[in-house]
Amino acid sequence: MTVGLLEDFHDFEPVQDDFLAAVLSGLTAPQKSLPSKFFYDERGSKLFDQICDLEEYYPTRIELDLLQNHSEEIARYVGSNSHLIEFGSGSSVKIRTLLKAMTDPLSYVPMDISREHLLEAATQLASSFPELPVIAICADYTSGFSFPDLGQGKRTGFFPGSTIGNFLPGDAEKFLAGAKDILQGGGMLIGVDLIKNEETLFAAYNDSKGITAEFNLNLLNRCNSELGANFNTQYFKHSAFYNSPESRIEMHLISLRDQIVSIAGHSIGFSDGESIHTENSCKYSVSGFQSLASRAGFNPTKVWVDPENLFSIHYLEA
Ligand code: AVI
Repeated sequence: MTVGLLEDFHDFEPVQDDFLAAVLSGLTAPQKSLPSKFFYDERGSKLFDQICDLEEYYPTRIELDLLQNHSEEIARYVGSNSHLIEFGSGSSVKIRTLLKAMTDPLSYVPMDISREHLLEAATQLASSFPELPVIAICADYTSGFSFPDLGQGKRTGFFPGSTIGNFLPGDAEKFLAGAKDILQGGGMLIGVDLIKNEETLFAAYNDSKGITAEFNLNLLNRCNSELGANFNTQYFKHSAFYNSPESRIEMHLISLRDQIVSIAGHSIGFSDGESIHTENSCKYSVSGFQSLASRAGFNPTKVWVDPENLFSIHYLEA
């Protein structure tokens, strides 16, 4: 199917997970939790964009610097005549740096679960790169679907932003093993946040403007607007800390009093100080991530790291 400037559009009609079922199951477990993928409603996506612009949130800035500073070398690893497949392409911003450095990319294949956002970003990119075939795929890249035939040529995956860190290591390995099947012997360019001093990590998830707190609390607003829940966000506070033994930032929402919240006819009790675990953001050493990628069947061949050892971009052979 051709849509406007796009070469092709494949819609696998991904079913968004049942938000109510996930909320009820998460909030009735002994350690209450809410899945971090539900952060990204319209307001949450805007707040995340603001997080990416914060001074304290170094990953976006450093990854873009790495892409820019090493674009020619990165492009050599990717090679000419390669299909670039982006997992969770969102606004398709970072890929532009890479595309500018590449010679004769065969196509750009953005993949995202959010149809409107995908079509808008893909169309904009196609108008900026008129010679480049853009093939948009609306799918949940964490679940199986039959990837379309792209024709001849190497396939290179692109997964920036350290989104891999939002999976626990076992799930990250499973995700990479699935991606490897799609890449058919090509390669993968992936951004991975590094283990570092606790102060820098703490500041990145506890910014002084309170945007990350708003982003976290927005999950409760989403429960109110979409599920008719009656959370009072003033009675919860944002908490983010580094869990050093697990090498991950954990985000939680802490109840500030004993309270009962009603969600679609269910009453959920919270005691004073009780937490809802909302996100893990796992951090890796370069060698730790290379081992994980090897277990998933990749051959880690090159890594780019900034001078302060804050962030890494890996090229993995599939
Ligand atoms: C999308 N993901 C990689 C971000 C992270 O750093 O884990 C989400 C985020 N959560 C709080 N700030 C940013």
